[in-house]
Amino acid sequence: MADTATPNVIRRADYAPPAFLIDTVALEFDLVPERTVVRNTMRVRRNPDASHASNLELMGEQLEFVSAAIDGVAFANAHAHEHGLTLDNVPDNFELTLTSICNPAENTTLSGLYVSGGNFFTQCEAEGFRRITYFLDRPDVMATFTVTLRASKADYPVLLSNGNLLEEGDLPDGRHFARWEDPFRKPSYLFALVAGKLVALEERVKSGSGKEKLLQVWVEPHDLDKTRHAMDSLINSIRWDEARFGLELDLDRFMIVAVSDFNMGAMENKGLNIFNTKYVLANPETATDTDFANIEAVVGHEYFHNWTGNRVTCRDWFQLSLKEGLTVFRDQEFSADMAGGATDEAARATKRIEDVRVLRQMQFAEDAGPMAHPVRPESYVEINNFYTMTVYEKGSEVVRMYQTLFGRDGFRKGMDLYFKRHDGQAVTCDDFRHALADANGRDLAQFERWYSQAGTPRVSVRTKYDAAQQRYSVTLTQGYGDAAPAARETQKGPLLIPFAIGLIGKDGADLPLQLEGETKASNSTTRVLDFTQTEQTFTFVNVAQEPLPSLLRNFSAPVIVEYDYSADQLAFLLAHDSDPFNRWEAGQRLATRELLTLAGRAATGVPLQLDDSVVAAFARVLTDESLSPSFRELALMLPSEAYLAEQMAESNPAAVHAARQFVRKRLANALRKDWLAVYEKHRTPGAYEATPEAAGHRALKNLALSYLAELDDPAEAVRLASAQYDAANNMTDRSAALSALLNAAAANGGNVEAQQALDDFYRRFEKEPLVIDKWFALQATQRGSAQRPVIKIVRKLMAHPAFNLKNPNRARSLIFSFCAANPAQFHAEDGSGYAFWADQVIALDAINPQVAARLARSLELWRRFTPTLRDGMRTALEKVASQVKSRDVREIVEKALA
Ligand code: TRP
Ligand code: ZN
Repeated sequence: MADTATPNVIRRADYAPPAFLIDTVALEFDLVPERTVVRNTMRVRRNPDASHASNLELMGEQLEFVSAAIDGVAFANAHAHEHGLTLDNVPDNFELTLTSICNPAENTTLSGLYVSGGNFFTQCEAEGFRRITYFLDRPDVMATFTVTLRASKADYPVLLSNGNLLEEGDLPDGRHFARWEDPFRKPSYLFALVAGKLVALEERVKSGSGKEKLLQVWVEPHDLDKTRHAMDSLINSIRWDEARFGLELDLDRFMIVAVSDFNMGAMENKGLNIFNTKYVLANPETATDTDFANIEAVVGHEYFHNWTGNRVTCRDWFQLSLKEGLTVFRDQEFSADMAGGATDEAARATKRIEDVRVLRQMQFAEDAGPMAHPVRPESYVEINNFYTMTVYEKGSEVVRMYQTLFGRDGFRKGMDLYFKRHDGQAVTCDDFRHALADANGRDLAQFERWYSQAGTPRVSVRTKYDAAQQRYSVTLTQGYGDAAPAARETQKGPLLIPFAIGLIGKDGADLPLQLEGETKASNSTTRVLDFTQTEQTFTFVNVAQEPLPSLLRNFSAPVIVEYDYSADQLAFLLAHDSDPFNRWEAGQRLATRELLTLAGRAATGVPLQLDDSVVAAFARVLTDESLSPSFRELALMLPSEAYLAEQMAESNPAAVHAARQFVRKRLANALRKDWLAVYEKHRTPGAYEATPEAAGHRALKNLALSYLAELDDPAEAVRLASAQYDAANNMTDRSAALSALLNAAAANGGNVEAQQALDDFYRRFEKEPLVIDKWFALQATQRGSAQRPVIKIVRKLMAHPAFNLKNPNRARSLIFSFCAANPAQFHAEDGSGYAFWADQVIALDAINPQVAARLARSLELWRRFTPTLRDGMRTALEKVASQVKSRDVREIVEKALA
């Protein structure tokens, strides 16, 4: 597993087609935990489109080579080595049979074939298949697979693989077998098998063309009562892809399997999706509204990959965003349609706001650090490190811009052409762009820069109103500001930015929009400007009064907009903008500006104060009954500490925390009556309902509770939270109450109610690992104080019997929550957080490099912090760099220190 050699850089420019192709694969598994024998029979031929190679080089890792045969005859010229198997002087077209052995029981990397909870699972993306058998483990080699599984019937009653079940039956010695066939050609990263003691929720549905499909959600027996929501999400996904994109399920059977040891969210293996339990299991007692929404999104995401990823796949891993950016876009649209249909803009905006918040907090930060890379990266050391916010979330924004440019119908035409041209192929991001361009008759050569330039573009805006001529001009300038060096290197020229804009009159209503040269105003009061030059001026005519601009409506491009709004103007937009996204955005801008000023003061010890007008702006949102509860909740939530710290010239988490807490307390005390009224009004008595409306009420009510917990006298909040905790019939309310108790306790040196609730929570959910994850996470992210630093609590919890470093969900719930979601405590001046981080990265490196590398990233922005913190982080990074072995972690820490 350890790769101590100097890491090799893989470059996009070096792509060459494979010298050989593999058309069919027949795999036979004798599944035994410590010693699984794999027999692999392949039809191999030379690739007519590649240069000649006499040797066949197959990839393989951590395999014990047993034998090779060509056309049924033992082949002596096969040499196993650290990276695979070399077969000298092979024929042009032949059948190759290989036998090898692997050890799933000892595989803690969770890549390849492994054992979890006594069952077998696989994870092959990106390069895990080579840990199962020798192969051309690259996505442009596509084959049809037949898979035979043999195992003890008592221990592994269920045997699953991709595609259709051909045959199953008993074997001697208490063993049995199953044979599966996947009729579709696929790259090896989409292979999967599952074997073990599992049960399924089943449903039969008819697809659009009337064919019957068998849907299954496989889980451990005690989890069967938590599968209904995943099944409903799957059925909704199938319907949605038919309705919105005309894409039908192409297999007779579609399976989802849940596993508790999993490196990421889920995996789109053909016909056999494997999921982290976190994105499958839910019932009201154990899962929050957010969990329910995430399950819907991830089930959709993996299902949508069946077309965008599986039927049309990636030529090489540099094209990862071809499938990921597109599929994230599709799952975001699915969730928005589920929440608000095609037309309820306010409900759709809720989803949009949540997605943009993640993009800005996480992807913009990535773009500003040493891991900055374009949506289509140019090089990598370890591909697993490039399943990033940029590839996924910015990639999705890039796809969304096509839809913004061409409309839903134009986008659909482009998708249709993409499938018409490329079904069954492994292609590139350029192929996708060309399909969109050709279907819509537009040259998108300039748009290519979105794929090749790293960094977050900045658009600065200047406006001028000419009252006499009734003209309003908007001048846009694009650039990158002082982006990270990696970002600057890739810059080639201006981007094509679809810039959505509206103009708002004195009464708060939208003004008609007529651009210079047009004969009349357009029907829509939002226009998407084609912003293609470094600087460009757009002039609106017949503008009867000086407007207030509403810029980048619905976040029409992944950029930072700079415009000098006054606080009054932002308050006006917050109250009136017809674009719900920008209404929220105005509030965020107002809050961010205030919070950054306050953080600057806190950093230099100046007393803090907050203008009454800001309090008044928030009070209006809080009490505006015309706004949906979910929108109010989003608008009243202050920007996160991480996002704010990132905006400072020198990140100072302690100052940000002080500023944000000051504002929260001020809003709590000043609006106490309103928070209490909102708390009472938005209770959801009676049976739990999972609808977006009910979730909106809970979200707003629980936000009110969290503000009430900030009151100078929190007795009332503690009483409400305790009562809510005891009476809760769902996890959303119960965990929100526990969180409020913990935070009220922190500010007041502890309270018995918090400890009682924590103990009760543990006892109540001892047998529910996903809930115990929440128990760890709530404690790791709680507010601390000088007397009660959270690092002490975290260190103590590391020794708790329920803690287990080998389980990624558990490691994330405690370690990642502390290191990445509790900045004020993690960045303690004494460096205690960094020392803890280094210990855990080093420990994880030996167990699971993919998970270790994710944790390693929590220090990558170290250069942007205050000098003391910077020094502490550098020391920790150097310690890690000197001790870790995996290519995964080395790439991260070496880039950070470079
Ligand atoms: N392709 C998966 C998705 O987007 C993600 C994925 C990539 C993954 N590599 C993985 C999941 C490794 C688990 C483990 O849905
Ligand atoms: Zn994906």
